[in-house]
Amino acid sequence: MRTVKVPLGNRGYDIQIGPSQLSELGRECARLKLGERCAIITDTNVGRRYAKPAYESLLKAGFNPSLVTVPAGETAKNLKSVGFCYNQLASHRLERKSFIVALGGGVVGDLAGFVAASYLRGVAFVQVPTTLLAQVDSSVGGKVGVNLKAGKNLVGAFYQPKIVLCDLDTLRTLPEREFRAGLAEVIKYGIIYDADLFARLERDLPKLLRRETKTLTEVIARCCEIKAEVVGQDETESGLRAILNFGHTIGHGLEAISSYGKYLHGEAISIGQVAAAQLSAKLSGLSQPDARRIAELFKRAGLPTDVRLHSNQRAKLFAAMKLDKKVSDGEIRFVLAKHIGEVTWGQRVPPAELEKVLTSDGHG
Ligand SMILES: NC(=O)c1ccc[n+]([C@@H]2O[C@H](COP(=O)([O-])OP(=O)(O)OC[C@H]3O[C@@H](n4cnc5c(N)ncnc54)[C@H](O)[C@@H]3O)[C@@H](O)[C@H]2O)c1
Ligand SMILES: [Zn+2]
Repeated sequence: MRTVKVPLGNRGYDIQIGPSQLSELGRECARLKLGERCAIITDTNVGRRYAKPAYESLLKAGFNPSLVTVPAGETAKNLKSVGFCYNQLASHRLERKSFIVALGGGVVGDLAGFVAASYLRGVAFVQVPTTLLAQVDSSVGGKVGVNLKAGKNLVGAFYQPKIVLCDLDTLRTLPEREFRAGLAEVIKYGIIYDADLFARLERDLPKLLRRETKTLTEVIARCCEIKAEVVGQDETESGLRAILNFGHTIGHGLEAISSYGKYLHGEAISIGQVAAAQLSAKLSGLSQPDARRIAELFKRAGLPTDVRLHSNQRAKLFAAMKLDKKVSDGEIRFVLAKHIGEVTWGQRVPPAELEKVLTSDGHG
C-alpha cells in the first residue's frame, strides 16, 4: 500500500493506493472520526459489484450507512441526479456531522462531491474511485460538479474529500476500453511533469495493460503525487494547475462536437495530446523524436491518435474550443511541451498551425 499526501493545510488529506482498500473503508472513516450516519452514492454498474463490501465495512466499524444509486454514465451527471440525491439524504436523515462516500468513477465522484459540498452547506465526503481515470485524476484535487445542457461541468465547486481510497482490486472489473482511456491521463503526467515516469511507461506498458498490482500501485501513486503537488501549489487554477489541461483544449472540443458519444474522455485527450505535441514541435521547442515518442506511446496503449476532419467539422471544433471555459478574451490558449517532462501554459497558437495538425495523420 502507498500513501500520498495532498498538501492543503487543514484541508489536506491522504490518498491510499493498494489492494483491499474497500474493506478498510469503515476503519478509515472511524479513524477520521466521521459522524455515525452516512450515505454511499454509487452508480448501477459499480453498486452491483462493490456496494455490499463498502456497506459491510462501514457497518462493521459502527456506522449507519444508507445506499443511493444513480444510473451509470455521463448523462446522470446532472442537476436532476443532484436533486434525487438530496432527497434521499434527507429521507435517511443525514445531518451536518454525517458524511458521503463516493463509490465509483469520475461521474459518481463529481456528482457525489457536489452533493456533499452543498447538502446542508457541506458535509464531509470520502472518495473511493473505481476507474483508472478517477484514481489518477478526478478523485484528487477537489473539483466537483455536474453538467448543464449548455456544457460539461458548468456548475460546481472546489471541495476537498477527507480521504481517497484507491482499491486496485476494483480495477479488475473495469472494461478494457475504460482502462485504456484512463491510461491517457497517466501518460499525460509523464509529458507534463516527469520524464522518468514517461520512460517507465514506455518500458512497463505491457505490465500496466495486464494490470499488474505492483506496477499499477507505483504508477498510480506517482500520478497522484504529481496531481497533489500541482494542486497544492494552485488549488483554484489561477496558474500552474492549467498544465493538467495538456491536450484537453482539443480533447474537450472533440468531445463536444461528437456530443459526448463517440469518444471516451481519455480517447479524446489522446488525440488532443498528440496534436498538442505536434504543435509543440513547431512552437515550443519539443524535438521531433520526442513528439514521435508521444504519439507512439498513445498508440501502443491502444488509444486513437489522429483525427481527419472535414472543413465543416473543423469549423465546429474551432467554435467548440472557443466555448471551453478555459478560454479568456475569446482567445484559445494552449499548454505546450518544451520537452517530455516540462510544459508551458497560456501559449498562443496561430489558427493556421492548428488547422494543419487537425488535418494531418498524427505523425507530423
Ligand atoms: N473532478 C475532476 O477533476 C475531474 C477530472 C477528470 C475527469 N472528471 C470527470 O470524470 C468523469 C469521467 O469519469 P470516468 O471515466 O471514471 O467515467 P464513469 O464514472 O462514467 O465510469 C466509466 C464506466 O465504468 C463503470 N465502472 C466504474 N468503475 C467500474 C469498475 N471498477 N468495474 C466495472 N465498471 C466500472 C461506470 O459505471 C461507467 O459505466 C467525467 O464526467 C469527467 O468530467 C473530473
Ligand atoms: Zn482529463
